[in-house]
Order: sequence, then C-alpha cells, then structure tokens
Amino acid sequence: MNKPLDYIFPAPPAGLDPTALDPARVPQHVAVIMDGNGRWAKKRALNRLRGHKAGIEAVRETIRCASDLGVRYLTIYSFSTENWKRPHDEVVGLMDLFAKTMLAEVDGLHEENVRVKTVGDLSVLPAETREAFDEAWRTTGDNTGMTLVVAVNYGGRQEILRAVEGCMRHAVLEAEETGGFLPPTEELFERGLYTAGIPDPDLLIRTSGEMRVSNFLLWQIAYAEFVCTDVLWPDFDRYEFLRCLLEYQGRNRRFGGVE
Ligand code: IPE
Ligand code: IPE
Ligand code: MG
Repeated sequence: MNKPLDYIFPAPPAGLDPTALDPARVPQHVAVIMDGNGRWAKKRALNRLRGHKAGIEAVRETIRCASDLGVRYLTIYSFSTENWKRPHDEVVGLMDLFAKTMLAEVDGLHEENVRVKTVGDLSVLPAETREAFDEAWRTTGDNTGMTLVVAVNYGGRQEILRAVEGCMRHAVLEAEETGGFLPPTEELFERGLYTAGIPDPDLLIRTSGEMRVSNFLLWQIAYAEFVCTDVLWPDFDRYEFLRCLLEYQGRNRRFGGVE
C-alpha cells in the first residue's frame, strides 16, 4: 500500500472504520460496472448527459483511492458494444465527454504514475475520442503504478470471438506446418483477449442496484467476487469503495477447492 489509511479516508462516516481494511489483502484487480448515471440525472430532472458528467468526479475519486491503496489494475466499464443503441445525442455526448475528460486528466494521471490502457474496439470511435485515448497511452504507457483499464466499445462476447479467431489462426498455421491439429488452450486463448497480460479481476463492483454482468469481462470474471451496491455511480465515493473492499475481504474465496 502506498498511503496510510487515515490519509486516504480522512473523514469516515459514523460506523465505517477504515482500519478494518487489511492493506495486505487489497485486491490486485478491481473491475467496476459504473451504472446509474441516467437515474441520478432523472431524479434531479436533468438531461442524462448531466448524469454522465457528474459520474466523472466519482471516476476521479475511485482512481485516486485505488491507486493510493495499491490496487494494481482498475478496469472501468465506460461504454459497451450495446450502448450504441442509446439516443444519438447521448452517444455523441458520451464520446465527446470521453475525449475531453481524457485530455484534461492525462497529466494528473501521469503525475500519479498511473498507466492508462483501453480494452474494446476503438477503431469505430470518433477520431477525437480515439486520439485522446491513444495520447493517454503514449504519455503514460511506461508508468509503473496502477494500470487504469478503460473499457470502451467493449463487449465480452465480441472479445471471446476475437480470441477464438486467434486460436483458429494458430491452428491453421500448425496444420500447414505439421499437418496436425492444435487444440486451443486457456493460455493460447487468453493471448487473443484485449486483457492479455492482465490478471483476472478479483473484485467486480456494480453500482445502482443492478445485478447483471451486461457483457463485461465474461471470460475473466470466472472467479471474481461480485459486490453490488445500490448507490448510483455519481454518488459513489471513496467511502462506498471502502465498503465494497471490506465486503470483499469478508468473503472466502475457494476457487472450487475446500478451506
Ligand atoms: C452508466 O449509467 C453509464 C454508461 C453506460 C455509459 P447509465 O447511463 O446506464 O445509467 P442508468 O442505468 O440509465 O441509470
Ligand atoms: C453497462 O451498463 C455498461 C456500462 C456501464 C458502460 P448498462 O446500463 O448499459 O447495462 P444494462 O443495459 O442495464 O444491462
Ligand atoms: Mg445503466
């Protein structure tokens, strides 16, 4: 862990004790389905995009907190392959928000030694959005602190098909060279995932009370601990993150074995 708990959590609400967190058992990889921006806006009679904008502050706080706690990978689900179904204005507004936010935040993330990576098919994004993510990777790619993995135009099923294609290409080459059949292995398959080289998530958080996976990291979450909170994403803060981490630390991970 990089920073002391009383620095990270200076003013805990009554009943929440940051010292209950075991710094040695902070998850290596936390994945977050940031949900509820639209409902947050609706409750305030605001446009949905205002909810997405308000969600940026929660992203900033979660990144800072995770990095300070020594989390190695934080993956945030920002736009799914199904989110193109949303109203045109919302999609355009989100793409614009991603580009502006990434450009505005990259220097601060770099100072914090955060490495920014993306997963998903960025090829179909508006050029400005794609370039903002490319720029973030160019600036921070050599950093050695937490890796922030931004899932944009990401779909778990699409990713699995890509990995299958990789296995098939290997099999064809093998058949040409030796005439033999190369069966897929987990190792070969994982080389074709967007997340190749990144350990599987230990903890998957979803906000806004929904309890579904929505096509996120389908292969990688085989043994992730799932924590759902009713808090809407723009209201998520370091203390809600702490609650999720404490719930995670209370779980008994068996990976199919016995205690
Ligand atoms: C999550 O919030 C953000 C994105 C999917 C980009 P939503 O926009 O899904 O919020 P709700 O679920 O409509 O409240
Ligand atoms: C999942 O949220 C996608 C992201 C958080 C980017 P959605 O709001 O799109 O998921 P569903 O439609 O409720 O399953
Ligand atoms: Mg939603």
